[in-house]
Amino acid sequence: MKLERFNLERIQSEWEHRVELNLSESGVEPLRIRELLNTPELKEQLLDIQLGYSQTNGTIPLRRAIAQYYPGCGADNIVATNGGAEANFLVTWRFFHENPSRHELVFMIPNYMQMSGVWKSLGGKVKTFKLKIENNKWIPDIEELKSQVTKKTMAIAICNPNNPTGSIITDSDLEAIVEIASEKDVWIISDEIYRGAELQEMKAPSMHGRYEKTIITSSLSKAYGLPGLRVGWAICPSEQVATELWTYSDYTTICPSKVSDWLATLALNPKVQVMIEKRTRQHIRDNWSIMQKWLDSHSDILECISPSAAAICFIKQNTGIPSLDLVMRLIKEKSVLISPGEYFEMPGFIRIGFGSRKEYLQEALGRISELLNSMR
Ligand SMILES: Cc1ncc(COP(=O)(O)O)c(C=O)c1O
Repeated sequence: MKLERFNLERIQSEWEHRVELNLSESGVEPLRIRELLNTPELKEQLLDIQLGYSQTNGTIPLRRAIAQYYPGCGADNIVATNGGAEANFLVTWRFFHENPSRHELVFMIPNYMQMSGVWKSLGGKVKTFKLKIENNKWIPDIEELKSQVTKKTMAIAICNPNNPTGSIITDSDLEAIVEIASEKDVWIISDEIYRGAELQEMKAPSMHGRYEKTIITSSLSKAYGLPGLRVGWAICPSEQVATELWTYSDYTTICPSKVSDWLATLALNPKVQVMIEKRTRQHIRDNWSIMQKWLDSHSDILECISPSAAAICFIKQNTGIPSLDLVMRLIKEKSVLISPGEYFEMPGFIRIGFGSRKEYLQEALGRISELLNSMR
């Protein structure tokens, strides 16, 4: 089976380091190592790390540190990975082999298209259900989901908070998804990488602890502002499922980097975590107000439902040209990168990341305005 190109990652890899201003990132301005190492003892400890292989499923201190954020979960329920991307890959790969009579994945759209692409490349069938707009909110189309799940379905894959809309699935919709899954004995894969990056005080409700057949994937890349560490995880309902998943990771990257494992354990220490989460939320809130004002100044051609989480907003654009063309013009004419809706299976939309430094964001938005104004 030919591998489908992962368009979103490819356009970012191709352009993010070539344009002058990159608004394709969905996380906040990353932290520096020195911000984590705030004592001389910690600096010494970092310098003393011996660069051998780390434990393949993550060290016990790292897995314990992750487990404390998932009630009822222990280190043995967790596989630590190289980013959320590896966690998603392993989970998708494992499920594909679980039961040959269940080769359908029911996938929420719009979404980060990784799991869908992997599932298709393995030879599986992907069915979709939409986040639809109702009362100025993105909400999962529960009726559509119900109609898509059959006895051939292996898993329902959701992304909550959602990339690219920044919307949060409510408790009652999560329960409705569980009901549909349990009726057909289907797994739920919940990518919760943006949890902890909410604009409001309250955290987005998690799928964790609602239904036995659930795997949560996440990482330090978004809510923690540490994408360069490449540390992610999968939370499994039992040690047995985690052990099976671990077998898959033996075939991919062997283990997370030892330095990253240590720094990630530090970042997950409750005192540090509180500081990081506060920084992320403040940053998102401050920049969202800049973004909102900018959107208002283009309300004749841009429409956006305010995100509830993540440093991204998903905008319906009415410029009269396809979003991909608009994105390419921005790259070529203004040296600014944003993401086209086509790469989330939502043509007509664009995604703008607003997590960068304030001045940087303002400069980039100014350049987008120049192009938009010249098109009127
Ligand atoms: C929903 C979602 N899951 C996973 C990933 C991959 O994250 P990581 O950088 O931790 O591998 C991304 C990256 O943008 C994402 O948006």
